[in-house]
Amino acid sequence: MALPGFRDFYPDDCAFRNALFAKWREVAHRYGFVEYDGPPLEPLDLFTKKSGQEIVTQLYNFKDKGDREVALRPEMTPTLARLVTARHKDFKKPLKWFSIPQVFRYERQQRGRLREHYQFNCDIIGEAGLEADIELIALVIDTLRAFGLTEKDFVVRLSDRQFWTDFMNAHGVPEDQRYAFIQAVDKSERETREKTAEKLGPLAEEVFTVLEKGAASERLDTVETGLRHRGLQDYVKRDFTVVRGLAYYTGVVFEVFDRSGEFRAIAGGGRYDALLKNLGDVDLPALGFGMGDVVLGEILKAKQWSPWKFPHLKAFLLIADEQFRPQAMRLLQELRYIYAIDYSFQPAKVGKQFQLAEERGCTVAIIIDQQIESGVVEVKDLATRAQSKVSLAEGGLALFLQELEAKNQRKQCGLPEEESPSS
Ligand code: HAM
Repeated sequence: MALPGFRDFYPDDCAFRNALFAKWREVAHRYGFVEYDGPPLEPLDLFTKKSGQEIVTQLYNFKDKGDREVALRPEMTPTLARLVTARHKDFKKPLKWFSIPQVFRYERQQRGRLREHYQFNCDIIGEAGLEADIELIALVIDTLRAFGLTEKDFVVRLSDRQFWTDFMNAHGVPEDQRYAFIQAVDKSERETREKTAEKLGPLAEEVFTVLEKGAASERLDTVETGLRHRGLQDYVKRDFTVVRGLAYYTGVVFEVFDRSGEFRAIAGGGRYDALLKNLGDVDLPALGFGMGDVVLGEILKAKQWSPWKFPHLKAFLLIADEQFRPQAMRLLQELRYIYAIDYSFQPAKVGKQFQLAEERGCTVAIIIDQQIESGVVEVKDLATRAQSKVSLAEGGLALFLQELEAKNQRKQCGLPEEESPSS
């Protein structure tokens, strides 16, 4: 049996995980992010110095055979900061980097929280302007939309960590009490008012006023306006209870939750402008988020999302008349330069081949019969059952499939169907 909080991945679990990763990579690429990676084992002090108290209590750490204090990474951000500070001169800023590390935290195992998880990390380094915050939040939203989730399913709770830092400065909260203060605000939603008041002492009433009525933040105004310009306003909500447990955040922060409030956080992140300076004396502003595979997986499973529901277009070459198998094989080979195409090795009845196409997750069938002699095939959309005659001349079939693929993509992102130029 696997250790508590660790998972085995049987083929179905691997297929699901690969589908998640594929979507993450696809959306990151759409936003112009490039992939990086780092080692799962790091010097212990990388995390004890940078991640903040909560994560440090959850570290998997030990002494290696060379007497080094080491730890399995509980998150990716300190590793990213280490990589960038070491070679920052080699890269043109801003950097837009993503990674999908497996990370390890020795926490109490519960629903949505395990001792290992995969975490999609997207970070922008070297851009101080709020346009980068807007872009990053748009990316977190689009990542979830790519799984067919909408503003009815999730919300990005936006906050301003700098507001709370200014608040603590203004009220003279001593350094050694700041972590407790942040934790009290963070947990205020889940705890009784009395318990939070007890933790906050004389500052309680003022904090409650901010939590209930909100507070002014020009940073958040700008971010909200930018998201409104992109049509994403319904995906965000201002919420000052979000402060983020990690120590390094400095500006706009956010956490993503399902609307029903049934699950733990889907993703979290924000600006951490001082981390690279503290770590490697390289003064570069930075921001990013992490999205785990566990909560997202639970939500998608609850919605019966299947990795095959919105696949990239996969076609089935259906050979309705065996005498045209040679022409079908030539077409198969040509199309496979671009598309995933499947077919039946053995002659089979048309109905059986349709069944096979659906079992293999194909979204369209290209039907080969005697019409191929005059350069025509029938293409059937297996979801809508719509069937069209398509000419093979001048790459007609490839163009037709390309349009279907674009339609599929729009559907995945929850966008309305594009009007055709003729309508
Ligand atoms: P975090 O909020 O600690 O942020 O984690 C990000 C996401 O990872 C969470 O929202 C959750 O989905 C998932 N997660 C965290 N712990 C667990 C767990 N024990 N089991 C399952 N899933 C978990 C960070 O780690 C930051 N380093 C993110 C970041 C990147 N900030 C800037 N860049």
